[in-house]
Formats: sequence, C-alpha cells, structure tokens
Amino acid sequence: MTVSFCSLPDPEAVGIRAASIVIGRSKIARDSKGRFTVAVSGGSTPLRLFELLGATFRKDIEWGRTEIFWVDERCVPPDHKDSNYKGAHDALLSRVDIPPENVHRIKGEISPEEGAREYEKELLRCFGGTGLPEFDLVILGVGEDGHTASLFPDAPSLSEGKRVAIPVYVEKLQSWRITLTLPVLNNAVTVLFLVTGRKKAGIVKEILGNGKKSPEYPASLIQPVSGEATWLLDSEASFRLKGMFRD
Ligand code: 6PG
Repeated sequence: MTVSFCSLPDPEAVGIRAASIVIGRSKIARDSKGRFTVAVSGGSTPLRLFELLGATFRKDIEWGRTEIFWVDERCVPPDHKDSNYKGAHDALLSRVDIPPENVHRIKGEISPEEGAREYEKELLRCFGGTGLPEFDLVILGVGEDGHTASLFPDAPSLSEGKRVAIPVYVEKLQSWRITLTLPVLNNAVTVLFLVTGRKKAGIVKEILGNGKKSPEYPASLIQPVSGEATWLLDSEASFRLKGMFRD
C-alpha cells in the first residue's frame, strides 16, 4: 500500500492530471483484464474531471469497455439536483458512447435498504460471486469534516466489515445515503483523491500533514490493501503542507 500526494496550481490542473491518471488506468485495465471498472464520487470537485473526460479526452477512453459505478448516492431520484448520478450524467455520460448496461447507478429513488441491497447484487453480478469487488480505480473527494464517500466521522458504517454497500442516515444532513464500505474502497487497485479549495486545507493538513488515521477522519482510513492512493491537491487545499512536497 502506498499513499502519495502532489500539489497542482489550480482546480483545472487537478482535473487535467486526474484525467491523465484515469486514461492511464483505463488502458492498463483494458489491456490486462479486457475492461476498466471505475467508481466515482459525487459532490462538486469531480465535475471538472467529468467535463474533461466528456470533451477534451473523450476519445482517449474505450467507453464500450468501461464500467462505471458510484462510491455513494443520495437517496433521491436520478433526476434530482442532488443526485450523484445526475452530476456524472450531465457532465460526462450524456456526452460519451458508454453502453447503458455499463452504467451501474445506485437506485436512490427506492428505500435506502432496498437500494443498498440492489447495488450489492449488481456489484456481485459484475465482479463475480465471492470476494470483494476490486475496482481498477476509485475516485474520492473529502469533506471538510474528513468524510469520504458517505462514510462520516465516527459513524457505525466505518466498522461495517461484511456488506459491500449499506444505507446510512447522516444526522447532520438529516438525509439518507447509500455508500460503499471501507473494505471495498480499500480493495481498489488505485484510489484517487481530488481535493481543491482553501476550505479543505485544514482536513488535508490533519490527514496528510499530521498523519491522522482514525474514524474521526474517515478519509484517513482509505489505505488500499495492495493498491495505491494518490491525492491530487490544488495550491489552496495544500497550502498548509508547505515544505512537504518533493520538487
Ligand atoms: C458526496 C460525495 C462526498 C464528496 C465530499 C466532497 O456524495 O457528496 O461522495 O463524499 O466527495 O463531500 O464534496 P465536494 O467535492 O463537493 O467538496
């Protein structure tokens, strides 16, 4: 397991570097496994990456051999403004020739437990019966409180060791979500964190600067068992890590 991080000038540079990593991982997976499986996050940070993959770099990925999943979803319909599926659909999926059967949406419109169970079935169908799903790439963001996916600080969901997807009620948001669990996220070949903006500088400092690793900081628990985690930060999010970067 390796964790690396780099600081880039601005969100655009983060998006472009992320796109090159996605393209690189997709080629490796396609050539070695015949397909590329990627799980994406919601929120605002990945949107520029999605736009770049749907436009500038559209031809650099073999969409017919790409299987897209989500790391989490809000329990809302797919056309709701808060839907993580909608975010990816509008910025990316509506602009590329990805076969509908390769888009594995979490059903936020049904009950949280049913949505989680259906997603688990879909994951097991796509990755085969027994072991944990192994994504070629998982793209994560980090909240100011250190949450990632829908794994929030000190939540019981952090100790889920059996299920691959679970419903979670997020008290502070007063809303239900469905999320992949830590064992699945840590079973990925590559995890890519995208973190931009000064508001994230504090949590970045805690996790990458002070080496915090605890349920208080769920993103700190993302340590791929045999894979690698790369943090792409812009200068705003990394400014409190001064002096920690190799030139
Ligand atoms: C979600 C995401 C969540 C997100 C962080 C950061 O469903 O909201 O999966 O974990 O990555 O909240 O969000 P921003 O990118 O908007 O800062």
